[in-house]
Amino acid sequence: MSLEVRGVTKAFGSLAVLRDLNLSVEPGEFAAVIGPSGSGKSTLFNLISGLDRPTSGEILVQGAPASVASGKVAYMPQKDLLFPWRTVLDNTALGLEAQGVRKKEARRRAGELFEAFGLDGFQSSYPFELSGGMRQRAALLRTVVLERPVLLLDEPFGALDSLTRTEMQLWLADMWQRYRWTVVLVTHDIREAVLLADTVHVLSPRPATVVERIEVPRSGPRGLDALSEPEFAATERRLLDSLSGRVSRVNEVTAG
Ligand SMILES: Nc1ncnc2c1ncn2[C@@H]1O[C@H](COP(=O)(O)OP(=O)(O)OP(=O)(O)O)[C@@H](O)[C@H]1O
Ligand SMILES: [Mg+2]
Repeated sequence: MSLEVRGVTKAFGSLAVLRDLNLSVEPGEFAAVIGPSGSGKSTLFNLISGLDRPTSGEILVQGAPASVASGKVAYMPQKDLLFPWRTVLDNTALGLEAQGVRKKEARRRAGELFEAFGLDGFQSSYPFELSGGMRQRAALLRTVVLERPVLLLDEPFGALDSLTRTEMQLWLADMWQRYRWTVVLVTHDIREAVLLADTVHVLSPRPATVVERIEVPRSGPRGLDALSEPEFAATERRLLDSLSGRVSRVNEVTAG
């Protein structure tokens, strides 16, 4: 397994945020985590990246306890800001520089990805000269170029308008099919989860635990055509039911 979260509980003082949370992600898998606002999704990412520690339970990344020092996780936080005074190229090289790669080499490696990320020609621009979607692609490039075994993306498209968001989702689907990164994506967007992920982990409200793990059925590649497949709509519906608690209520009724 690339990632294993085992029985993780996290509290901030008296506030219980995560409760006995389990999930695992295989190498090359695209996993999505979906859950209500404030349920603890970003908290979970802070634990996986090693920025914070669980109150109990354990998190293994490629079999070793999660830690910042292990350098196994690349994390694109929910509010990933580009530095306004750095050019786009210098912004995207920043993560590599921070881990000790020399500036010239860092720029070369980041520069190689500009075309694939639709940013060619904007190397010397400043972030304010980019569109919202381009800024998010630049932030993603900065994360991906680290070439770490696990990528954590916390609502990468949350702030975009719906058209740009759809374009970015289709673009990411395409990129994933090309590079096969191991990804965990946090999202509020059911359609985004179904479009992109192999598996979707549905969280309960706080304290969050995984209430359901749904495998997304696929009969073709991820992309625009997938949106009109009947199984796509059925998976969306299942996720909506799971998120709104309808599934557990049905189970309770059956059990009673
Ligand atoms: N360092 C911290 N200290 C105290 N409380 C915290 C800390 N970090 C998060 N919390 C609390 O934990 C809860 C979960 O926060 P978190 O940011 O993980 O939610 P989320 O699921 O990512 O929400 P959203 O979808 O809105 O981004 C919130 O009530 C938040 O106030
Ligand atoms: Mg969050």
